[in-house]
Amino acid sequence: MGVKKHILVIPGDGIGAEVTTWGKAVLEQIASEFGHEFTFDEALMGHVAIEATGSPLPDETLDKAKASDAILFGAVGHAKYDNDPSAKVRPEQGLLKIRKELGLYANLRPILLFDELLDASSLKPEILRGTDILFFRELTGDVYFGEKKRNEDRTWASDLMNYHRYEVERIARKAYEAARVRNKKVCSVDKANVLETSRLWREVVQEIAAEYPDVETEHMFIDNAAMQLVKNPRKFDVVLTANLFGDILTDEASQIAGSMGMLASASVGDGTGFFEPIHGSAHDIAGQNKANPLASILSAALMLEIGFGLKEEAKRVTDAVDHVLKQGFRTGDIANASTPADKVLGSDAMGQKVLHFLRSK
Ligand code: IPM
Ligand code: MG
Repeated sequence: MGVKKHILVIPGDGIGAEVTTWGKAVLEQIASEFGHEFTFDEALMGHVAIEATGSPLPDETLDKAKASDAILFGAVGHAKYDNDPSAKVRPEQGLLKIRKELGLYANLRPILLFDELLDASSLKPEILRGTDILFFRELTGDVYFGEKKRNEDRTWASDLMNYHRYEVERIARKAYEAARVRNKKVCSVDKANVLETSRLWREVVQEIAAEYPDVETEHMFIDNAAMQLVKNPRKFDVVLTANLFGDILTDEASQIAGSMGMLASASVGDGTGFFEPIHGSAHDIAGQNKANPLASILSAALMLEIGFGLKEEAKRVTDAVDHVLKQGFRTGDIANASTPADKVLGSDAMGQKVLHFLRSK
């Protein structure tokens, strides 16, 4: 029996449109192959939304988001704001607001390692081989959403870092549930030797851990975790951490998978899920047909699996990506000196390869 789903595509800024095109194309292909009915709509967010409406997250986008079953998102950001710390309206505010409004408190970032890309990483293949990590990054709390202040003469600033017990509890439960069906290990990362929020975090995680005696728990300080991640990434299974620590650690971990251009993520709460690459808007290569569409395609796979519970369909997509990589095709970010020139593809050609493989089966 096919399922009916309504999907909102939010391309956003920079390379967002170039990559979501392929995530969407893959979803359409899967729908036709498996007899599902996926309908699509599109909406603005980020810099493009500010230009068109003055707001990084127009009400229309939020309404469409709430009315959809899942969201395929590209990226937001623009260099213009990065170099202007005084800008009051910023593209990133749109992303933060939609996370909050949709209650997307759990950000799942799987570090999926394709064997063919072992040599695309800056780390040694023998360190990486066999790594399989699933990050659970808390997404709607922490210093990201605490009160922000500046004094009158603008010589002092403050961002409040704060967590409620329930916010830690609900993400910890999700992480432990996931660990149960993986390698049964949770590493909770905090800075409990310094931060009060981290002491609350650790206290709550210890309580939840007691409910999962079959799962092994380790607590690690963020500075140590940043080091262990590149020293011995294989030791990790599920990593559970707060918003800011998770933001930083997952960019670091993307190097394990060879490139930011490969990593997908799922942001979930209790309603509509949000699926996006972890890479940003990459304005330096936008509009040049250079961006790697695989992270968006893998985000579509996460939508199928986590958003809709369609495991077989999701596997078809990851297998297709694997196949294309096995054939030696690479986008610039994952190519190296020994990649033959005719195997280095632009965004569109790479997207076509994946689609072609899906259609040929
Ligand atoms: C991410 C991004 C965002 C974040 C930015 C764009 C606000 O870096 O999704 O990791 O910091 O959460
Ligand atoms: Mg980030």
